[in-house]
Amino acid sequence: MNEISRRILSLGIISALVSMAIPASAAPVIKCRFLGQRTTFKGKLYTCIKGKNKGKTILMWDSGKPIPATSPIASQSPTPISTPSPSSSPTISPEPVIVKKIDIPIAKSSDVPNNSTKSFTAKNRNGIDATYFLARNSEVLIAMDATCPHQGCTVAIATEGLLCPCHSALFDPKNGALLRGPASYSLNRLAVREADGLIYITD
Ligand code: FES
Repeated sequence: MNEISRRILSLGIISALVSMAIPASAAPVIKCRFLGQRTTFKGKLYTCIKGKNKGKTILMWDSGKPIPATSPIASQSPTPISTPSPSSSPTISPEPVIVKKIDIPIAKSSDVPNNSTKSFTAKNRNGIDATYFLARNSEVLIAMDATCPHQGCTVAIATEGLLCPCHSALFDPKNGALLRGPASYSLNRLAVREADGLIYITD
């Protein structure tokens, strides 16, 4: 064996001894800080465990477990979109309650002489006290609802006419026609009839 061969041989032995003394790092590079801590490193899952070093208890990474390859997502079946069943009953909106108009005896014929307008109170078809005007002019009888068409206040007889106390709308006492705003309409007229000395309105 010549000098070169001896040197090559000795270098090989030295490197083998070094590799045995210093094993390649197989643990995660991050520090193990608490029991149960987990991390992945080079395809393995490591868990922080208790170990011994020079008689002292230390935290260290275990030997790691290989991480299994994940299954393809394509194998998952799509979530079906639910559609309303044809048998489910449709939502039924409540029917509006319609109360039929009624004949209301409101005054005696003698209570409303010719060329006069009078105010009366009676229960309407909903059983609520309501105010009405009866006006007789040239022997013609007219009935009006005293509810202001502006915002629903009750109009009253005043010196200047039928006056709304809320915003001062004014109506003609003879027929309920609008004389002054802010209302935009005349008073609502009602059907009226006289029979056997009584006056009836329909509301
Ligand atoms: S409610 Fe009558 S004028 Fe406004």
